[in-house]
Amino acid sequence: MNIAVVGTGYVGLVSGTCFAESGNEVICVDINRERVAQLQAGKVPIYEPGLEELVRRNVKEGRLSFTTDLVPAVGQSMVSFLAVGTPMSDSGAADLSQVFRVAEQVAKATIGYHIIAIKSTVPVGTNDRVRTIVESNGKGRIDVCSVPEFLKEGSAVEDFMRPDRVVLGSTSEQATAILREVHAPFVRTDNPILVMDPRSAELTKYASNAMLALRISFINQMANLCEAVGAEINDVRRGMGTDKRIGSQFLFPGVGYGGSCFPKDVQALIHSAGDHKLDFSILRAADAVNDEQKQILVTRAKEHFGNDLRGRVFAVWGLAFKPRTDDMREAPSLVVIEQLLAAGAKVRAHDPEALEGARKVFGDRITYHATNYEALQGADALMILTEWNEFRHPNFQRMKADLKAPIIFDGRNLYEPGLMKALEFKYYSIGRRPVA
Ligand SMILES: NC(=O)c1ccc[n+]([C@@H]2O[C@H](COP(=O)([O-])OP(=O)(O)OC[C@H]3O[C@@H](n4cnc5c(N)ncnc54)[C@H](O)[C@@H]3O)[C@@H](O)[C@H]2O)c1
Repeated sequence: MNIAVVGTGYVGLVSGTCFAESGNEVICVDINRERVAQLQAGKVPIYEPGLEELVRRNVKEGRLSFTTDLVPAVGQSMVSFLAVGTPMSDSGAADLSQVFRVAEQVAKATIGYHIIAIKSTVPVGTNDRVRTIVESNGKGRIDVCSVPEFLKEGSAVEDFMRPDRVVLGSTSEQATAILREVHAPFVRTDNPILVMDPRSAELTKYASNAMLALRISFINQMANLCEAVGAEINDVRRGMGTDKRIGSQFLFPGVGYGGSCFPKDVQALIHSAGDHKLDFSILRAADAVNDEQKQILVTRAKEHFGNDLRGRVFAVWGLAFKPRTDDMREAPSLVVIEQLLAAGAKVRAHDPEALEGARKVFGDRITYHATNYEALQGADALMILTEWNEFRHPNFQRMKADLKAPIIFDGRNLYEPGLMKALEFKYYSIGRRPVA
């Protein structure tokens, strides 16, 4: 099948590449000329494990190409997947301008039968609005479907190739049949394709992200209670997570959730509910808890060193919002580093993939280090903000030698408090029982 994918970000590039990998001819469209030029030259502009190899192979075998020219791309395709951004607007609602613009362009470029499949995360009712745009701009017969994407950055290719489910919002039998065929290679292990009306599909995506955000805020607040009462969050987490009704995922305490999805999707869902005179108070609480949680390490540091951090140097390990990605959108590191700088501290940062992104945000206000040990040199303390695997078993003796004093503020609970005590580190983590 010939497929166009509009938007070559984390979702569009992964989707387009995986559709090509399953034999389709895919043309990816983006307005970002630099990005398209990079992709045409075989360079993948984002870090996502396994992606570059797949892109190269499918380009080489002629199934995957990139363009800035939407009209011919759509003209030669049966389906256009929309994977453009839906960022948070000032009001908290999702900004749908990219989606609407592309829908209009696709409609105008369509000649015969065509499917617009909205993959971007969009508020309930967007499918109807896109349909209205398409009806007033299109010449061909166009079905508008909602196919929200559930991949996780850091394992996006794997998630796309083996999704737990595909959610397909469609009111057209023809479009449903075609989209089922497109997704069939990814659900060979009998994971379901759930066909539903577009409104339910749109809401399913928000409901999923909102539930995951709730779990994180819940466990973070539980961790704070553990500290207050002298309990151990890891025991509580395991004790509750082994209950099959609860499950163990997304119950790790830390410095708050970030990324390009949870913060904006929680806000957008609160906003959608507000449009219907409903106060989604549980989500407002999750969001407020998350904002507080992002402050927790700097509060600890101020308790340790005093409020004035002038002259203090902090090594920061981890800038991306999660491991195995270079994405820094809404990352807790953004808040933590700004707070450290505001209190007068200096920051020496390391991240295996996100240094370039961080440089765009912080410029020369912090220093950037190619290795985690280099970042430690001469620092008063280490702060850990992302749980990259390579931080899990460091050489503690070397760390002690590099740091001015053996102090760690661990926002991801990477180490055992007992071991830290034995190694004579002053070790702060989240929700752990102090070691006597
Ligand atoms: N990132 C994730 O993990 C993830 C997961 C699931 C769903 N989503 C959703 O998918 C959507 C895309 O997210 P993303 O992270 O890939 O975004 P992104 O910002 O990485 O990529 C969006 C791309 O769309 C391009 N674009 C914007 N306007 C365009 C236009 N008129 N024509 C062509 N291209 C255009 C941009 O240049 C950019 O390359 C969002 O709605 C997001 O909420 C994201």
